[in-house]
Formats: sequence, C-alpha cells, structure tokens
Amino acid sequence: MRPNIKDSTILVTGGAGFIGSHLVDRLISEGAKQVVVIDNMFVGSEENLAAALSLGAVLYKDDIEITSSLDYVFSKYNFDIVFNCATKALNYSFVNPKNAFDTNVTGVLNLLEHQRRGSFKTLVHFSTSEVYGTAVYEPMDENHPINPTTTYAAGKAAADLAVKSYVNMFDLDCFIVRPFNNYGPRQNYKGYLAGVIPITAYKILKGQKPEIHGTGAQSRDFIFVQDTVDAIIKLYPVMKKADSVNISTDGQISIKDLIHQISTLMGYQGEILQKSARGADVETHNASNQKVKEMIDYQLTPFEVGLRKTLEWYKENIK
Ligand SMILES: NC(=O)c1ccc[n+]([C@@H]2O[C@H](COP(=O)([O-])OP(=O)(O)OC[C@H]3O[C@@H](n4cnc5c(N)ncnc54)[C@H](O)[C@@H]3O)[C@@H](O)[C@H]2O)c1
Repeated sequence: MRPNIKDSTILVTGGAGFIGSHLVDRLISEGAKQVVVIDNMFVGSEENLAAALSLGAVLYKDDIEITSSLDYVFSKYNFDIVFNCATKALNYSFVNPKNAFDTNVTGVLNLLEHQRRGSFKTLVHFSTSEVYGTAVYEPMDENHPINPTTTYAAGKAAADLAVKSYVNMFDLDCFIVRPFNNYGPRQNYKGYLAGVIPITAYKILKGQKPEIHGTGAQSRDFIFVQDTVDAIIKLYPVMKKADSVNISTDGQISIKDLIHQISTLMGYQGEILQKSARGADVETHNASNQKVKEMIDYQLTPFEVGLRKTLEWYKENIK
C-alpha cells in the first residue's frame, strides 16, 4: 500500500526550486507530518521556502549526487515518500553537458539505491517533456518515441529508464510524472539559466529589450505551476508502479506570440530584438493530456490568468 501524503514524512529533492517549493507548500497544506528538503541551492532559494520553513519544513543545503550527503539525511528521518525534483536547468547543459547529465542520472540512482535498501517506500520521479525531443507525431502522448536532443534531456531519459528497471528488478514503488513547460511565481529569472517567461519579464522590468530567438514560430505547451502540483497530488494515489504520465495543457503558444503577450500585459511598447536560433531547441512540444484527464479531475488555469499572476510576482520580486 502506498503511504498517504497526510501524516507522511516526505523528502523533496530540489525543493527550494520553482516547482519543488510549490509542491512543498502543497504537501504541508495536505497535512504531511514532516516535509524535508534537500537542495544544493544551485538555483534554489530560501525565499521560495519562507512560508514552508515557518510552518516546520526543514531545509538541508546539500547535494543528492553525493551519497554521504543523502546517507546522513536518510539516517535522521524515517521517510515514507520522496519527490525527486532536483535538476540543473536545461540551459546548463549547453555549458556543462556532462554535469547536467550527471545530476539527473546520479541523483535518481542514489535515491533508488536508498529505496532498495528500505530507506523509504514511494518515489515520485520528475521527468520532462524534453525527453521526447521534437515531435514525430502530435499531440505527443506517453508512447511518443524518446529522442532527447540535449544532455539534460538524455540524463532525464536515462533516469526514467533507471526508475523503470529498478521497479522491474526490485518491485519498488515508483512512478514518473512528466511535466511540460511550467510557468508561475518563483521560476528562476536570474542569468542564462532562466526560461523564456522569466527572462522576458526581467528584461522589460530592467528597461532592456526582450528577445525572440529564431523565427519565434517554435511553440510550447505552458502549464501553470500550481496546476502541475495539483495534478501530481491527485495522481499520487492512482498511478501504477513504473507508469509515466504527461502533465500538460491543450494549449499551444508560439514563442513569438508569448513575447508579444507578455509585452502587452506589462505595457511594453518598445522594440523586440530578433536573435539567432538556439542550437538543439525543439520546434514543437504539443502534448496529449488525454491520459491525465482520464485519471483525475484535471483542473487548468487559463493561460492569461496564470500569466498575469506570474508577471505580478515578477513585478514584486525583481528589484
Ligand atoms: N520547470 C519546467 O518547466 C519543467 C518542465 C518539465 C519538467 N520539469 C522537472 O521538474 C523538476 C523541477 O523543476 P524546476 O523547474 O522546479 O527546476 P528548478 O531548477 O527551479 O529546481 C531544481 C532544484 O534542484 C536543485 N538542485 C540542482 N542540482 C541539485 C543537486 N545535485 N542536489 C540537490 N539539489 C539540486 C536546484 O538548486 C533547484 O532548486 C525537475 O526535475 C525538472 O526537470 C520542469
């Protein structure tokens, strides 16, 4: 039997990051007994966890790639569930391809070894739509070929296979959630690791010109972060071992339209710079969310509502 979230002791790796910190907040409101975060603060921040820490969550600033670091955290608690959110952003794989791969693979292997030895019961592993690569058919469902185009995605794809093989070999209780592009408050906006929505908001707030890379016709399926977290909480009791599920919307927005929409909502009327395409950028990520819809009561925030909330957060938090 899978442990209930309520009354469980839960570890969230990468929990000081964007999705992880929203998940931590939600786990606390679901009545988790104790939520513990391990995050090496690569992009994570204590501010993301301000509310959670004041409600009793515990943060270890440490690294899941280091086995002895995981060992001491696991020795302190009797964990029921681990949510594995830790990763280094896709953009990092362009500057440090090996470590972007390693974080995704070594991290989950270390967790699976702990699970195999009985340190906890259930692993919820975060994959990414990036494992599918550019669509060979659309919308991309869970049977779409795995064709990663970056070492970040290759590491994620390898991690998914590791999870499945450990379930197969040792009958562990693990399942895989595969979000598409998330957006929302707390998404990192600093430096070259930032995603398109935060970086555009940042540039406009700092008086710089927003940029479109390539034609801008490349499109993404953007989901509001709290919808992703809500879906994961609802999927938790119903997912089968080793199964994976897309978490996405029915929407599809081109990067060009997105930049224009952000500009309009932020009252920006200046120039938008045209830049060359980024290597290995996938063209479309048009997801099928049929499976998730059949499994849970799936609620999605309209894109404009989520985008307004997100831009408000950037206005308040980018000084
Ligand atoms: N944000 C998205 O659009 C998106 C889309 C698909 C999948 N995902 C997946 O969801 C998960 C969460 O993504 P996110 O957007 O919150 O990313 P994020 O970068 O905001 O959070 C990841 C966290 O992991 C931490 N971290 C990195 N390396 C670590 C290590 N070795 N040990 C411990 N902590 C480490 C970082 O400091 C960061 O706080 C990831 O697994 C990601 O692949 C995200």
